[in-house]
Order: sequence, then C-alpha cells, then structure tokens
Amino acid sequence: MTTLDMDLEQLIYRSELSPTFRRGLNGDLPDLLEQARRLNAARRITGLLLVYQGCFIQLIEGRPDQLDVLISALERDPRHRNMNAIGRRKIKQRAFPDWTMSARDLSADDERIHKRLDEAGAALPPTMSYSGVLRFLKRIWAIRFDECQFVYV
Ligand SMILES: Cc1cc2nc3c(=O)[nH]c(=O)nc-3n(C[C@H](O)[C@H](O)[C@H](O)COP(=O)(O)O)c2cc1C
Repeated sequence: MTTLDMDLEQLIYRSELSPTFRRGLNGDLPDLLEQARRLNAARRITGLLLVYQGCFIQLIEGRPDQLDVLISALERDPRHRNMNAIGRRKIKQRAFPDWTMSARDLSADDERIHKRLDEAGAALPPTMSYSGVLRFLKRIWAIRFDECQFVYV
C-alpha cells in the first residue's frame, strides 16, 4: 500500500485467545483474517497478527480515527479477551505497508518453528516494552517458515 497518509499511528496490543477459539487451518483464524483484511483494505489499515502461546499480539497502523474505530470493535470481540495495549505511537511511515494483515500462528508443539526462533534470537521480551515487542515481531516476520504450517502471508 503506497502511503500519502499525513497522520499515521501504530499500536501494538496483546490479548488472550478466547477458550473457544479454534486453532489450525480448519479453525477460526482464516475467517478472522478474511474479515480483517477486507475491512483493513477499506480503512487503509496495515499490520501483523501473531498467535503465540495462547495470545494474540497484533500490530495495527493507520490513521488515528480509523485505529480508534478498529480498537472499539476489538474490545467488543468475544474471540479474545484481556486486551492490553503495549503502546501506541505516531509514525512517519508504515512499517508494514504491504500487508492489510499478515498472520502467523506459531503452534507451540512445532519444534521446527521453535528451532528457527532460537536461531534468530527471537524471544518475546519479558518486560514487553514497545521497542522490544516490535523487534520480536520483525524478527519473526524475517524468518522463512516455508515448510511450516499456519503461515498466512
Ligand atoms: C485477534 C483479532 C484481530 C482482529 N483484527 C482485525 C483487524 O485487523 N481489522 C478488522 O477490521 N477487524 C479485526 N478483527 C475483528 C474485529 O474485532 C471486528 O469483529 C471487526 O472489525 C468487525 O467490527 P464490527 O463488529 O464493528 O462490525 C480482529 C479480531 C480479533 C479477535
């Protein structure tokens, strides 16, 4: 997405999957993503969604008023709970301009994924600082998971 946006913000939050959220290719993520991408394209929102250790970590970026609309919808969404903002900040340009929402579901029992994460030094920082989580997301998205399941490019 090319951006002539003058006023841009980026937000990262973490939430917990609802107990009824189904993982895997036949689970709830494909439908969620289809909906997110359709709405985000219309609202010029881009970002990343990671499913990791029972949590969602999502980065969204776009115009502040559009982010506010999305955040209100996210807060009402029963597919997750205990939403916690890691931070929100003004940005000069989008970090992920090409993705209306790229997603990865890092299945806890997939050893290949964890080997790759270790090799890339990608561990979720315990303090969850904004810059630490952003670095963690960028590292994960830089890893090629070609042979692994649950990558939604
Ligand atoms: C983890 C998670 C991530 C989501 N990401 C997005 C997103 O990026 N964009 C979006 O429009 N909706 C996203 N949704 C869906 C919204 O919560 C909401 O259902 C959707 O925006 C429709 O809003 P409405 O209920 O006001 O019509 C996400 C939901 C969950 C649980």
